[in-house]
Amino acid sequence: MYSNLSNFSEDINTSFIVIFSVISFFLIAITATIILFLFKYRQKKNPEPTQIEGSVLLEIIWTIIPLGLVIGMFYYGWMAWIPMLSDAPKDAIEVKTTARMWSWLFEYENGKKTDTLYLPEGKPVELQMTSPDVLHSLYIPAYRIKRDIVPGRVTNIWFEPRKTGEYDLFCAEYCGLQHSYMITEVKVLTQEEFDKWYIDTTAVTKAAATPGAEGLQILRMNGCIACHSLDGSKLVGPSYKGIWGHEAEVETKGQKRTILVDEAYVINSIYNPDEDIVVGFSKGLMRSYKGELTDEDIEKIIAYLKTLSDKHEEESNE
Ligand code: CUA
Repeated sequence: MYSNLSNFSEDINTSFIVIFSVISFFLIAITATIILFLFKYRQKKNPEPTQIEGSVLLEIIWTIIPLGLVIGMFYYGWMAWIPMLSDAPKDAIEVKTTARMWSWLFEYENGKKTDTLYLPEGKPVELQMTSPDVLHSLYIPAYRIKRDIVPGRVTNIWFEPRKTGEYDLFCAEYCGLQHSYMITEVKVLTQEEFDKWYIDTTAVTKAAATPGAEGLQILRMNGCIACHSLDGSKLVGPSYKGIWGHEAEVETKGQKRTILVDEAYVINSIYNPDEDIVVGFSKGLMRSYKGELTDEDIEKIIAYLKTLSDKHEEESNE
């Protein structure tokens, strides 16, 4: 059923089956022998222990057979692994992949960005993966591929999806509190559907038309929503709901003070997140987005925050 979802699946499955068969055989054989010997050589029947001399023939047999088995298991694993290490085919689609606490971002050659990996069926793809914070690991079980993503380094992984459908993609390296949030999907489309999706920018145009929608898009793409909820629930950081225009108690250099959530505060919180910590939350969990988000981006974010706040509605109703 899952034998050929990617170009690597078959070989990995074979090595899995080989290794699993060998260990299953020995698990059953050794357990059965232990139970058999428990009865056969129990003390009641054999009150006096007997000394057994060594046997060269037996020694040779139980050295050669396991050696052959271990080399066999190594061979299948090695043969499945080698193609993964080879360079991606020249015509592979390149997708810049960012893993960060705690979400994924995929950026295509035409600049399109998504939090779900869209791919065409039957075409090789190379993911060029980086992390701005800690160690993550890209894992697509259906494709039998997994590779660590190391901060300050680009690691590549390539594969070829062979069948349309939706498959899990997640982080397989514990990377902090919301590690389990780092789950998304690979959506494999037919070439035709993919081309249509690839050039489609209506989502962007539509976003520009509704107030705040662009800001929400920026928050999504930068993974902000993993830690800041939109519905008032408390996650790693304060919720965005109702935050704009309200007063908050913060701790600045060990001193408690009350601030107003205005433009200056939002900008400073994005660029210097550890400066004013809202009481009840912890320091050191957010990195600075200086150089990643522009002032223009932040303006759009603020426009969105206003839509989540009654303070703003009051203003506009007046
Ligand atoms: Cu990223 Cu776990």
